[in-house]
Amino acid sequence: MPSDSSTDDFDWNRLVAEARDAMAHAYAPYSDFPVGAAAVVDDGRLVTGCNVENASYGIGLCAECGLVSQLHLTGGGRLTHVACVNGRGELLMPCGRCRQLLWENGGAELQLLTTTGVRRMDEVLPDAFGSDDLA
Ligand code: THU
Repeated sequence: MPSDSSTDDFDWNRLVAEARDAMAHAYAPYSDFPVGAAAVVDDGRLVTGCNVENASYGIGLCAECGLVSQLHLTGGGRLTHVACVNGRGELLMPCGRCRQLLWENGGAELQLLTTTGVRRMDEVLPDAFGSDDLA
């Protein structure tokens, strides 16, 4: 856990624990790389996801995909805090595609717990393409 995660008020330890629980449900027989993701929504809800692969390797679902689906399924809202872990329960950076998913559903200020501390989405996805560009 990065040292600066303990200095803010948010309970990152709980979110990482939820991500680890989600990871335990991953279906990753092809990569043998289970992933779990957990996020808090602006109304206080918790949403989680795990990766789900299939025999057509290229169209597997990342953990963040499941998380975003659960976000909408359970009432929508905006993600405020997110953490992802690998099969060892260690923090994992979201892949590029999933950074775009997180950007769409949390925006520039979404907080992401990384191995180097808590970072905003606009740090990990600078100059992002988003809905504003479609205006
Ligand atoms: N994976 C995720 O679920 N999220 C990420 O952000 C990185 C990669 C999954 C996809 C695939 O099932 C496995 O990890 C190996 O790439």
